[in-house]
Amino acid sequence: MEKKKKMHLAQFLVHGPTYHSLAMWRHPKTAEAGYAWDRPELYQHIARVCERGRFDMVFFADLNYIADTYTGSLGPSLRSAAQAPEHDPIPLLSFIAAVTERIGIASTFSVSHAHPFYAARLWATIDHLTRGRAGWNVVTSLNSNQAANYGEDRQPAETRYDRAHEFMEVCRRLWDSWDEGAVMMDRDKAVFADPARVRRIEYEGRFFRSRGPLNVTPSPQNGPAILQAGTSPKGQDFAARYADAIFAIQPRAVDAAAYYASIKGLMSDLGRDPDGCKILYGMQPIIGETDAEARERQEEHNSLVPFEGGMAILSAHLDFDLSKLPPDAIMAERPEPELHRFRTRFRKPDGTPMTVAEVAARHGQSVGLPQFVGTPAGIADQMEAFMDEVGGDGFMLSPTHTPGAIEEFVDLVVPELQRRGLLRTEYKGRTQREILREED
Ligand SMILES: Cc1cc2nc3c(=O)[nH]c(=O)nc-3n(C[C@H](O)[C@H](O)[C@H](O)COP(=O)(O)O)c2cc1C
Repeated sequence: MEKKKKMHLAQFLVHGPTYHSLAMWRHPKTAEAGYAWDRPELYQHIARVCERGRFDMVFFADLNYIADTYTGSLGPSLRSAAQAPEHDPIPLLSFIAAVTERIGIASTFSVSHAHPFYAARLWATIDHLTRGRAGWNVVTSLNSNQAANYGEDRQPAETRYDRAHEFMEVCRRLWDSWDEGAVMMDRDKAVFADPARVRRIEYEGRFFRSRGPLNVTPSPQNGPAILQAGTSPKGQDFAARYADAIFAIQPRAVDAAAYYASIKGLMSDLGRDPDGCKILYGMQPIIGETDAEARERQEEHNSLVPFEGGMAILSAHLDFDLSKLPPDAIMAERPEPELHRFRTRFRKPDGTPMTVAEVAARHGQSVGLPQFVGTPAGIADQMEAFMDEVGGDGFMLSPTHTPGAIEEFVDLVVPELQRRGLLRTEYKGRTQREILREED
């Protein structure tokens, strides 16, 4: 039998009470555990569990708003904790680094409201503190709520990504402003750093100016690994140029395969090795001892999601107030350009187009991530079948509740995947980039 490629796994996290599931903070298991989502110990615990499961990384999303997109009121978001509140994830990365050895530690940080010097310095420092395990999810921010918090108007995709390209260029030049060996620490000669091997960058572009050099020494990966989640043509182009890994939400394997081919094709066109960027598909596992128990758990979970929460989160992600549409309108048939954004999430697994109400309900449950429901072996089967159809490269897992769901996955599904030779049993690489490049 042909040997299959191993999967890469990332754990999706938010420094807040809900992730992709709005049921999370109300889930009976979360309540039982005393849900301390605002304490670092919870995330330290999760990262240790994921390291035991040999995941490539733990990864934090980050949004900088409480959305009023739906109905123009903050009420629906606040009542249902629709990805709000969200505390800043960056300080947590150091807490996690302190209690783990090998797992990658990644977070989102938007390029739309900061200067590249600050970002280059921050991420080089995190890469030092994690000993080369840092990953930066480069986003251009999701909606006008976020832009308004920074006193700005939301820019069209074209401008956001032009600016993002320049942002990355400045960061790269700053990370390259120190040559290898520049730090001499020669006590006899009284030379800490060799001035001939550190230079200014004198960058002057359309959006940014920076003189350099960076005041951080070269970090283990010379800047973090770069992660991305773009879906628009501009977003895909950005990802294909810079990313070491991409997160994607494609509920149907057929669409995931098309996305995979598109990104890997773009990479080849740009002269990059297509294996140099791993595409990780979002998935929400729901595990039971039997199929019937797993389906019961799924029903229990999904019934805890308030409808207005689903509408709030979907409206925020689309930057469009869905209260303006009849709930039974077919999403994919609407002419509004904002609704073209996540087209592949508007269909059921069998391809049937979904109504506004149906898409919103699913968005509240999982933001469109497919739910893989079953016994541990059944979930491993579903993961294997998805990878077989798509071609690679792995999954970004999102829990229905925590603590609890991640531990179950690692204790029950991970050994099954390892038995099948589909998941590493030990890390080989030391840095985040090396771990993402491990092929078997
Ligand atoms: C799995 C996943 C996670 C994302 N996480 C964030 C995030 O934490 N913060 C953010 O502002 N945008 C996030 N995004 C949005 C993307 O950065 C991107 O803006 C969105 O997918 C739309 O693509 P586009 O920018 O190419 O139009 C995420 C997207 C996906 C698919």
